[in-house]
Amino acid sequence: MTSLEAEEKRLKSIEREIRSVQSEIEKTSRGEGLEDCDEELTKLQLENTKLKHRLEILNKAISNERKNSPRTSQKPPVQSNITEMVSITDHLLELFGAAIRASFPNLTDPPVIITPSTNAKFGDYQCNSALPIAQVLKNQGEKVSPRDIGVKITTNLAASPLVEKTEVAGPGFVNVFLEKKYGVNAISSVLKNGVKPPKFKKSRVIVDFSSPNIAKEMHVGHLRSTIIGDSICRLLEFLGHDVVRLNHVGDWGTQFGMLIAHLEDRFPNFTKESPPIGDLQAFYKESKKRFDEDEVFKKRAYSCVVKLQSGDPDSTKAWQLICDVSRKEFQKIYDRLDIKITERGESFYQSRMVDIVKELTSKNMLEEDEGRKIMWGEQHGQGIPLTIIKSDGGFTYDTSDMAAIKNRLAEEKADWVVYVTDAGQATHFKSIFSCAKRAGILDPTKHRIDHVGFGVVLGEDGKKFKTRSGDTVKLVDLLDEGLKRSLDKLKEKERDKVLTPDELKKAQESVAYGCIKYADLSHNRNNEYIFSFDKMLEDRGNTAVYLLYAYTRIKSIARNCGKDFTANIKKIIQETPIPVEHEKEWKLVKVLLKFPDVITKISKDLCLHHLCEFVYDVSTTFTEFYDSCYCIEKNPQGEIIKVNNGRVLLCEATAAILGECFDILGLKPVSKI
Ligand code: ARG
Repeated sequence: MTSLEAEEKRLKSIEREIRSVQSEIEKTSRGEGLEDCDEELTKLQLENTKLKHRLEILNKAISNERKNSPRTSQKPPVQSNITEMVSITDHLLELFGAAIRASFPNLTDPPVIITPSTNAKFGDYQCNSALPIAQVLKNQGEKVSPRDIGVKITTNLAASPLVEKTEVAGPGFVNVFLEKKYGVNAISSVLKNGVKPPKFKKSRVIVDFSSPNIAKEMHVGHLRSTIIGDSICRLLEFLGHDVVRLNHVGDWGTQFGMLIAHLEDRFPNFTKESPPIGDLQAFYKESKKRFDEDEVFKKRAYSCVVKLQSGDPDSTKAWQLICDVSRKEFQKIYDRLDIKITERGESFYQSRMVDIVKELTSKNMLEEDEGRKIMWGEQHGQGIPLTIIKSDGGFTYDTSDMAAIKNRLAEEKADWVVYVTDAGQATHFKSIFSCAKRAGILDPTKHRIDHVGFGVVLGEDGKKFKTRSGDTVKLVDLLDEGLKRSLDKLKEKERDKVLTPDELKKAQESVAYGCIKYADLSHNRNNEYIFSFDKMLEDRGNTAVYLLYAYTRIKSIARNCGKDFTANIKKIIQETPIPVEHEKEWKLVKVLLKFPDVITKISKDLCLHHLCEFVYDVSTTFTEFYDSCYCIEKNPQGEIIKVNNGRVLLCEATAAILGECFDILGLKPVSKI
């Protein structure tokens, strides 16, 4: 062992001693349960004072050691008191980042790579930076073996309350083993303070989602946008952001010309008496037919659009009537799925479209193109230009999105805007973002902007999702079928014999809407997905049904522990450490500890399937734990003879974390199912 390594070893052992003394101090200063034993208490207090003295000496020793060692003095300060759940990956990135920079001060931006270990033999996490650093050094003409790099990194690694030990393996991989004490504290904090989000800078975020088109069918594509968008909002709200949920409904397109013209003909009295156009689909079809076949009608339709957009009162009234019918239909879907959203359709931007056209014209950014006015993004001639003004002088979808992005960033002062639509609109948004940057509206150094795309919904035959007769599926019908199928499922399990009618109804809705949402969210949104009630209602595998059952079962464990437990749970939480001795206990704790990592990851890529994978991982690991660790022991008569408080607390913490995940996913667990 070199003298440097020996010195490192000594430092580490002092750091370890500091931590153990700190925990002794914690214990002795509590003196809990000893209120009535004066003698014991005095002894403990004395011990406490001695320990504090010892700590002082140790701290002095370590700071002297550091002063004398220039290499180790670059270490970041030890954060010795992390007692809540933190993102382990972020913590390790910071820890290893500092060690790597201290080890290789001449490298600019050295790679810091942290991944969870795939094999428990190699610890819980790994730092895989040694190989790429060796490569960088080699390119600079310096030959160092990756293993030596790994060793060097570990010698510069500051102590961390999250890390029990590290090991250098193979060609320089640094294996990290998590510290059990951290797990115990972090899970305990979940029970004491609730599930808290990882710390983030708070932003004002506008999420544009759902956004169906008035008078047209709200189709499964809009359902996907609704489910994914709502879940993204729930996640951002959990993180503490200021979230504005906007429904950018298509309420200003040319379809209104023909609808208004048709309304004038069919119900000339419409300004005085509300016309019976409950079936807007049929009404839309009728007017479309006339529009396609009758030239005179077509002309009138166009003039109606112009009249509407210039604010003519009768046209506005007709437009409002039509919008109201659609709005009521959409609201039925939102109510059933428990979606909160504020309508701010394209029409809201009419005057802002006029303004943005002026702005872009004055900045010389619009070009003539066969009678249209187009705008290129940052790279002229690359990608697809926006059509800002049509050859007939009208505005387009592009114009409204340019006005909307300006409004959201400049007027609404959003730091971050998220658009949730099918992947087919990716090019549209690419052009919008590029043009907004060119026009100085979007500043990538200040604003974050995301187009959250998703694949198409397919039927079980792998073709576009349609009814048997080939029509588009009405969302209301789809939700009704979900309800029917979920009731069938509950009856198949004979739950109707156990639950009261009210409980059965709650369970039915929870399963029906839960399974539709979960099936959507659990697939990588970038891929197309096959809509299958049979699959989503399965009670095995990663489905809402399986998870809802699992959750209800976990929640019932504490309830079944008897009064001694339930009545004293607060006290028990304060007094009982979370158990981590049994291999399956520790395994479950470690899975739960991943929660902040998962949330952090989703806040970056906005892919909710990671959360679904996580809840499934939690549920299956919980089953392993529950199968091998007794929580409640009963005698042959079925009476409770022993409650393992710590393990039941672990069940409660599991339920708390699962519950938070369900909330983000928009699932509503019920107490009986
Ligand atoms: N109404 C559009 C559609 O049905 C979606 C709107 C999305 N939002 C936006 N700002 N363009 O395709």
